[in-house]
Amino acid sequence: MTLESIWQRVHHEAARLKPVHLCDLFAQDQSRFAALSANLDDLLVDFSKEKIDTAALAALLTLARAAEVEVKRDAMLAGEPVNITEGRAVLHTALRSGAGARILVDGIDVVPAIHKTLDRFLAFAEDLRTGRYASQSGAPFTDVVAIGIGGSALGPEMATLALAPWHDGPRLHFVSNVDGAHLTDTLKPLDPARTLVIVASKSFTTQETMTNAASARAWLAGALGDAAGCHIAAASTNLAATRDFGIDDRRVFGFWDWVGGRFSTWSAIGLPLAIAIGAANFRAFLDGALQMDDHFRFAPLERNLPVLLALIGIWRRNAMGWPTTALVPYDQRLARLPAYVQQVELESNGKRIGRDNRPVSMATAAVVWGEPGTNSQHSFFQLIHQGTDTIPVDFLLAAVPQEQIGDHHAQLAANALAQSAALAFGKDEDAVRAKMALSGVEPGQIDRLAPHRTFPGDRPSTTILYRRLDPATLGRLMALFEHKVAVQGAVWNINSFDQWGVELGKELAARLLPSVLGSAGTEGLDASTAGLLAHYAALRAKAAN
Ligand code: F6P
Repeated sequence: MTLESIWQRVHHEAARLKPVHLCDLFAQDQSRFAALSANLDDLLVDFSKEKIDTAALAALLTLARAAEVEVKRDAMLAGEPVNITEGRAVLHTALRSGAGARILVDGIDVVPAIHKTLDRFLAFAEDLRTGRYASQSGAPFTDVVAIGIGGSALGPEMATLALAPWHDGPRLHFVSNVDGAHLTDTLKPLDPARTLVIVASKSFTTQETMTNAASARAWLAGALGDAAGCHIAAASTNLAATRDFGIDDRRVFGFWDWVGGRFSTWSAIGLPLAIAIGAANFRAFLDGALQMDDHFRFAPLERNLPVLLALIGIWRRNAMGWPTTALVPYDQRLARLPAYVQQVELESNGKRIGRDNRPVSMATAAVVWGEPGTNSQHSFFQLIHQGTDTIPVDFLLAAVPQEQIGDHHAQLAANALAQSAALAFGKDEDAVRAKMALSGVEPGQIDRLAPHRTFPGDRPSTTILYRRLDPATLGRLMALFEHKVAVQGAVWNINSFDQWGVELGKELAARLLPSVLGSAGTEGLDASTAGLLAHYAALRAKAAN
């Protein structure tokens, strides 16, 4: 069977299932939950509320095999240069491999260097936490400001918030935006004499990070003079640049070009997280990811969570034609998960050119957006329940909360389960009318209001349910999304591991800076940009007077 004919089969299954309501799918098959869910220990993925059945799933699995998902997965895990546009291996998985593993890049086993660096940055994290590495005055550091952007910030920041109950070291703060407001508001309550700044940048050239780093260094130097140097550390692959910036090599923690920015929390980029939760918890976080890596590597596709999640995404995006997905953690400490997954999925698979250098013939990455539940129920859930578009939802929920306060968690769980059921099964007009009649509403009023109060249902969702949000579970969840991205990239036949799309904006910003500063004119610029710059200059001139 050709790939084309398998795609046709997938589309044929979608055409068959589109008119069948989820109520009917559940009525027809009592074994839906068993057939359309899978787990890795306590981590369960239930996709029985998707508009899919076992025949459609079989077609998707055939597609995955025909697209050589297993071959491409194995090539990635083996360190082959699967990032073809940059000629690099993609080996974030090596960062969580056991010390006994052997992973070759260009014939060299990278595992010993990984463990040496891991030991070094975890020792530094412990030294900071215990005060063995202290501020210039000898007092322990109370605060750590991590400066970085994109992959050098989103993962560590999300994970640091997620694991708040494990914090027992200095307070962590993250600054990413070049908007001076971010640095100013972060530094305002801090004492430079007790603050360590970590500059996290793979390239150590990113404009936003270097601008924030220079300003933070000036803030430290303003208070500490020459002693400011011992209040700065870095995580980077560019050791020449960290030296140029004046950071002592003893406080620079390296990694490798085969660690993509958005996959780098497991490397020294995770130092802020390690400072927050300590070395043992950081190792548990790595072990959780390793567990998902092993599952991804060995589990049959039929029970392989990243593969199933990826295929559900492909079903939604390509077969059903739904362009966005809401990611809604019913887990307040996963508040930054949507932002993190946005980068992992959209920077990876927001591509229009295939690995064969030709435009791809189908839609790629679905837009991911979301906020934690239950807050989102009081903002955008109206749209998901009754809007004109179908927006699939991914729910996340822990069975055991960190805090046992009254019935908070029972209420949270009830809301999560209620939302997915309400979306799937809705409430038909007859039921709405009957309920209104029972409450004594007069018939004319029922006629007017019943359509507004009807829920069409048939709105799909997947629920990810796990025991507890702890370091190992977070590691598993992050690795789950990473591998989902790799599988989707394999099916779409795109390179998920470059990000050329961010370059043009960077180039133009550098070119426009002199015009914004007023040291260059607006000649040669398009009329809109020139007009905006003129208005910007006029507003600033007025503000200066
Ligand atoms: O947004 C583009 C990007 O290159 C990301 O991929 C990366 O995570 C981020 O910038 C930061 O890059 P760096 O770690 O080199 O500062």
